[in-house]
Amino acid sequence: MNRIVQKKQLSNDVFQLKVEAPLIAEERKPGQFIVLMLNSDYGERIPLTIADASEKEGTISLIFQAVGKTTIELSQLNEGDEIANLLGPLGAPTHIEKFGKVVCVGGGIGVAPLHPIAKGMKEAGNEVITIVGSRNKELLILEDEMKSIADELIVCTDDGSYGRKCLVTEPLKELCEMDSKPDLVVAIGPPIMMKFCALTTKPYKVPTVVSLNTIMIDGTGMCGGCRVTVGGSTKFVCVDGPEFDGHLVDFDNMMNRLSAYKDFEERARHNCKMMAAADAKGGNS
Ligand code: FAD
Ligand code: FES
Repeated sequence: MNRIVQKKQLSNDVFQLKVEAPLIAEERKPGQFIVLMLNSDYGERIPLTIADASEKEGTISLIFQAVGKTTIELSQLNEGDEIANLLGPLGAPTHIEKFGKVVCVGGGIGVAPLHPIAKGMKEAGNEVITIVGSRNKELLILEDEMKSIADELIVCTDDGSYGRKCLVTEPLKELCEMDSKPDLVVAIGPPIMMKFCALTTKPYKVPTVVSLNTIMIDGTGMCGGCRVTVGGSTKFVCVDGPEFDGHLVDFDNMMNRLSAYKDFEERARHNCKMMAAADAKGGNS
């Protein structure tokens, strides 16, 4: 059992939980994730990136968007509540070294997994330019945290309610066109955003790393649920990733696989909202 020691709401449906997990806090590296189960007897397993960790406190931070059944249930837990199972740290850590100029691009909730990577890149002596994007100002997360790490922070919103009114690919293209183009781009966000970031950097031959958010079940390379095609070969995101060369990922295939369970997910989300409404009325007591 892992106790929640702190809960913060970062935006309408994005939450940050600090959870007791001393062994994971000791071992984790930027880019790694955990798989959690809310209840040990039933329920699904979902992967979440380790957004931060404190070895001293023995805690890890998880930042997640309440998008469906399990993440909505997780958002309803409070300080003092417990998560039944946390497995991790999983996945290969981000390759961090002094590359030179590193552009970190985060879209939506992707800013959460990007934060420890941007921090690691800065600590390794890189010049770090961060581009963060969201649909509107309310959905923007971790702006201050990113500002404190980056040499330059560029904020974009789809509706222009904050920062530049554009997609993250616009400033990314401008940076690639400069004489001192980036030595590395790290892009994390919705699959469509990562696909277009990779397409933007490809003509400039700027190496681009993406972190894939496929469906995961066991998180240990056994079930094949997270398989993707990278450079024509099958890879498992949980053990071979989650980071891959964005220029080699077959994003269309990945997006097709991600939509395979839409009907089930919609039904589970609907049931979850009905249960919450019944609980609020005392109907389930
Ligand atoms: P559902 O309604 O079941 O699904 C909503 C959407 O989430 C689906 O369309 C699908 O795209 C995705 N999803 C559903 N089940 C899974 C699953 N078992 N594995 C992966 N994706 C699934 N989200 C965050 O908010 N913060 C993070 O830090 C984060 N890190 C991730 C790291 C990795 C390596 C991966 C693979 C995914 C990460 N995600 C993260 C996505 C997160 O796992 C899903 O949002 C979550 O599983 C949704 O479950 P649900 O039951 O709430 O929603
Ligand atoms: Fe099962 Fe990766 S989640 S093989």
